[in-house]
Amino acid sequence: MEGNPVPRIAETKNGILNSIGLQNPGAEHFISNELPFLRQFDTKVIVNICGHTLTQYCSVAEKFADSDVDLIELNISRPNVEEGGLSFGTDPHIVERVVKAVRHYVRQPLIVKLSPEVSDISEIAKAAVSGGADSLSLINTLRGMKIDIRKRKAVLANKIGGYSGSGIMPVALRMVYEVCNSVDVPVIGMGGISTFEDALEFIMAGATAVAVGTANFYNPYATVEIINGIQKYMEENQICSLDEIRGCID
Ligand SMILES: Cc1cc2nc3c(=O)[nH]c(=O)nc-3n(C[C@H](O)[C@H](O)[C@H](O)COP(=O)(O)O)c2cc1C
Repeated sequence: MEGNPVPRIAETKNGILNSIGLQNPGAEHFISNELPFLRQFDTKVIVNICGHTLTQYCSVAEKFADSDVDLIELNISRPNVEEGGLSFGTDPHIVERVVKAVRHYVRQPLIVKLSPEVSDISEIAKAAVSGGADSLSLINTLRGMKIDIRKRKAVLANKIGGYSGSGIMPVALRMVYEVCNSVDVPVIGMGGISTFEDALEFIMAGATAVAVGTANFYNPYATVEIINGIQKYMEENQICSLDEIRGCID
């Protein structure tokens, strides 16, 4: 995918807007040229996949099924061109259908990444699990906008972009809390995490793991600082396992 025209990133007071348009060199190129580089490191590799049609989702999933990738994450926040451009992730029936279809192809554990642009996130979470999701991750970005008042123009070439960073954290935390209380699969929480305190809030809301996106843009050490901060917090509070505090908000 070529991606969207530039500018694709705009800073806002409490986060960033992006309209990258999922620019990427394609599954085959990734598998032969980029995966070997990632495999040098002693860590798990998760590949985030998407499509514009059900057939595209399945064809990408099939390409990764036999690759040396540990987990597949299904991005269902993309517009479904066969259903009038509505996001795949907003209709529980379509969510269940796309997850079931992809599940058929992948042999790796399947994480389904949920869009926050829905009125009932629990209903979507349940549909993803009934389609065969082994885990859920949330939240993806919320659509937002920024205007340059001097130029009287939208800052992003695409006008509208995905909002991420600290401004979305309370929304993300609420949704992670709701999903953790509605399904039994592990949840990866994300949305605005930049410190160990933020990460612990997600764990206390019930998340099994957390992810950090936007904070890496201004602090490349963010993830290491978060891991160290959590370890120190556990030592100071005599916590042996995060299970002791996971989901403690009931
Ligand atoms: C520049 C940029 C690119 C992103 N690309 C993807 C993507 O390809 N697939 C996806 O599922 N989410 C994508 N996201 C969403 C993030 O993975 C994450 O869900 C969201 O930004 C919230 O977390 P954060 O506030 O820590 O960034 C992207 C976010 C940003 C900022």
